Amino acid sequence: GEFRPARSPLTWSCAATCSNGVISSQYTEDCRTGMYPPDGPTFKGPVSWYTIDLDLPPSKRWTPLMADSLPSPFGEEIKGIAGASGVPLGEVVLFNIFYEVFTVCTSVVAQDQKGNLLHGRNLDFGLFLGWDVKNKSWTISEKLKPLVVNLDFRRSNKTVFKSTNFAGYVGMLTGIKPHAFTLTMNERFSLDGGYIGILEWIMGQRDGMWMSFLTRSVLEKANSYKEAKNQLALTKMLAPAYFILGGNQTGEGCIITRSRELSIDVIDVKLDRWYVLETNYDHWKEPFFLDDRRTPAMKCMNKTTQANISVKTLYDVLSTKPVLNKLTTYTTLMQVSEGKLESYIRDCPDPCMPW
Ligand SMILES: *[C@@H]1O[C@H](CO)[C@@H](O)[C@H](O)[C@H]1NC(C)=O
Ligand SMILES: *[C@@H]1O[C@H](CO)[C@@H](O)[C@H](O)[C@H]1NC(C)=O
Ligand SMILES: *[C@@H]1O[C@H](CO)[C@@H](O)[C@H](O)[C@H]1NC(C)=O
Ligand SMILES: *[C@@H]1O[C@H](CO)[C@@H](O)[C@H](O)[C@H]1NC(C)=O
Ligand SMILES: *[C@@H]1O[C@H](CO)[C@@H](O)[C@H](O)[C@H]1NC(C)=O
Repeated sequence: GEFRPARSPLTWSCAATCSNGVISSQYTEDCRTGMYPPDGPTFKGPVSWYTIDLDLPPSKRWTPLMADSLPSPFGEEIKGIAGASGVPLGEVVLFNIFYEVFTVCTSVVAQDQKGNLLHGRNLDFGLFLGWDVKNKSWTISEKLKPLVVNLDFRRSNKTVFKSTNFAGYVGMLTGIKPHAFTLTMNERFSLDGGYIGILEWIMGQRDGMWMSFLTRSVLEKANSYKEAKNQLALTKMLAPAYFILGGNQTGEGCIITRSRELSIDVIDVKLDRWYVLETNYDHWKEPFFLDDRRTPAMKCMNKTTQANISVKTLYDVLSTKPVLNKLTTYTTLMQVSEGKLESYIRDCPDPCMPW
């Protein structure tokens, strides 16, 4: 496949600012309430479920899903490339999609007053891959919405983990191991970031792991919050990332800030911090001023209060602009103690922030 290096977010941001002009106050709003159950113009549709049978050989696991949901010619092309090149399908998809797009997200793990952990995320995908002026939408974000699927990974007909994903993408950005832990990954931009690791990988030095393959492996193999936390903190990766992890006991919720080598910072849920929230900036630094989703999201979390946090109010927070924006592809809500994952495809009608 063709390799295109990741571009610097600063270059992108400048390009977007130049073409989109100033940020207007109409792009932000008061904290939303009463948005759940999902309905109306910000709700584009439910996400369908598919089962992936882990007892099948790896090459056969995805066949039904691919045949069903990848639109022509996308699926055929990717299968063709994989077949002709001998490169595993997942890697082809990675090269084709992941590293030439810019993922920006919001993830939050919150603890209610009974000590139950809730985990929510917006996946914002496809920045600067082409703005459709007429439709005021990001071309790739729109194309990816029909590809969003919920997956139930089973072994011996029993759920091992569940995830929300793009069909054809074998890494994991959002997942739950029922009754044990919940996990999301957000991209972290850093000057010594993806570039070097990916170049090394291409040059044959392959001791680092693709970030979303690590999350997949953790969902499959780790059996507890502690084990997951250790693996996420210690495995060498190709690029930096944020891992947002929730467990099944009071106090088990954290954000792990990763360099390629190891964890450089961990913040945990604790008595005087009932939630942890991550967008795409180190929590000890100010967010980039053109892209501050952290302050509005925290404002709404604070306004909600721990007494009133629930799947319903978490959806409200994730539905408030600009936490909800033109890139928001899906919203996922997870309750570890119920083993429940629910996802909704999103839309952000005008006026709405492009990111
Ligand atoms: C713009 O939106 C319309 C209606 O949703 C759709 O039919 C059309 O294909 C879109 N145009 C592009 C270029 O995506
Ligand atoms: C798998 O489990 C489902 C219910 O969870 C059941 O309907 C189905 O028959 C089972 N399949 C096999 C092959 O055991
Ligand atoms: C929490 O997770 C641990 C490790 O998987 C498990 O042993 C324990 O039973 C779980 N507790 C609850 C309440 O689900
Ligand atoms: C939310 O509350 C926390 C804890 O009290 C505080 O540190 C933070 O500044 C608040 N953020 C906003 C945006 O209100
Ligand atoms: C919590 O929710 C209840 C019912 O929706 C509402 O009456 C109450 O004012 C809320 N409390 C706070 C602190 O928002």
